[in-house]
Amino acid sequence: MIVIVDFGSQYTQLIARRVRGLGVFSRIVSCQEAPAEVLRGGPRGVILSGGPASLYAKGAPRLRKPLLERLDVPVLGICYGHQALMHAMGGKVEKGGSGEYGRAEVDLLHEDALLAGVPRSHHVWMSHRDHVAALPKGFTRLAHSPATPNAVVCNRARRIWGLQFHPEVHHTEHGTRYLENFLFGICGCSRDWSLGDWIEQTCAEIREQSAGRRILSAVSGGVDSTVMAVLLARAVGSHARPVFVDNGVLREGEVEEVQHNLGEVLGLKLKTIRGASHFLRHLKGVTDPEKKRAIIGREFLTLFFRELRGDDMLAQGTLYPDVIESVSVHGPSDKIKTHHNRVPEVLKLIRQGRVIEPLKELFKDEVREVGRLLEIPEPILARYPFPGPGLAIRVLGEVTPARLKVLRAADRIFRDEIAASPEHARVWQGFVVLLPVKAVGVMGDSRTYANVAAIRAVESVDGMTADWARLPHELLDRIARRIVNEVDGINRVVYDITSKPPGTIEWE
Ligand code: XMP
Repeated sequence: MIVIVDFGSQYTQLIARRVRGLGVFSRIVSCQEAPAEVLRGGPRGVILSGGPASLYAKGAPRLRKPLLERLDVPVLGICYGHQALMHAMGGKVEKGGSGEYGRAEVDLLHEDALLAGVPRSHHVWMSHRDHVAALPKGFTRLAHSPATPNAVVCNRARRIWGLQFHPEVHHTEHGTRYLENFLFGICGCSRDWSLGDWIEQTCAEIREQSAGRRILSAVSGGVDSTVMAVLLARAVGSHARPVFVDNGVLREGEVEEVQHNLGEVLGLKLKTIRGASHFLRHLKGVTDPEKKRAIIGREFLTLFFRELRGDDMLAQGTLYPDVIESVSVHGPSDKIKTHHNRVPEVLKLIRQGRVIEPLKELFKDEVREVGRLLEIPEPILARYPFPGPGLAIRVLGEVTPARLKVLRAADRIFRDEIAASPEHARVWQGFVVLLPVKAVGVMGDSRTYANVAAIRAVESVDGMTADWARLPHELLDRIARRIVNEVDGINRVVYDITSKPPGTIEWE
């Protein structure tokens, strides 16, 4: 196992995924954690991530002395982590002028275990302003770039290495080689992290933790909850009870589709709670998106908790990124989404030892991989992510049955057209938004005054960043024409060409 100490880089999770991709389990901890927590589980090596700050910025995270003194396994500092390490050991980090961003050529000066098989001269990806101007005692320079004298450094006796560039990003040539050399050549890790083993081990843990009690899991038909439900069924059979709540803001045909997929295709004993009218009653007159989220989250729990009896357990599909967000140096990330995995009712159950979160160690792509190993059919695993608050945050303004009907019809056309097109493979998430705006149009000989709908289709890897999909004009044209012609209540369609950031994927 490898521990990645997070200094707040946007690439921290990428490092963890790359390490796991090489067959070695990895864990992320905040740079503010106590040394005992960092070293919990006895890692074979420690990687210090990059970070957004200058070491000299106010409040910039530092590598603390107590941790440095306890690091008795090989250490690899990356970018900011490298600078923090050099600074903590007595080297000198200088504020840079213009810095070095993007592609740079490094030349190797000496041989070293970290550089085995790496060509003498190659391109790497840099992203820094400050640089290490003087090395601490005992360190050797192994490579340099035109703007960075200490691009790769080491102290073999203390088993510490530092890289000014990012070996984890795709644009660094031989980046994988650097990571492999560190993991296998230096730390002596073996490639033994396999999701197949993880499934067996997790099933055993679920059996032990639940000790014969019933486990209720909330399923939405999405990838995470479906994989979790199948995993739970594999662990405890009929003691696992997937519960599906129809919250009235699902897409057209979704209730039947989820029942079919989970019940008939996957053979789970699904309980459906028909809550549509309950939710719509509570949403009446509400226009604020965060209020809509809060109501749906709260009422979901009200209905779901009615199913929970005696000492039943609750299973949640919390993923690793949800867990690490709360320990990163920035604290919980900006409240763009409100998280319902940690509301008071759930916290109470956690204290009683009645919550199971079997996916909490996994990244999203690993969840999909587990799904494949559990033989869940690919179309179920390839489903677009769909937010918990559903269409309530896509009907901008008040959510009424009439507006939902209009949006459902338009969204159905959009989904059918995308599904039938080769573009389907590159769209990560796509949907229609019903705007609270009316426009004038002309149909036949008469003037219309009806709703505007926006189409949103994005390409993304994990939803953290996204770019609008460059869908062919012919496809957009067909979708727009069909929506305006077939959906009563929409007379104009616009295409959203905002990336994330600065936009978000959803409109609310
Ligand atoms: P944003 O809009 O924040 O969305 O760029 C990123 C991803 O998260 C989904 N999303 C949500 N999922 N509850 C959820 O379960 C929410 O409140 C929520 N808001 C956004 C969104 O669909 C996208 O996949």
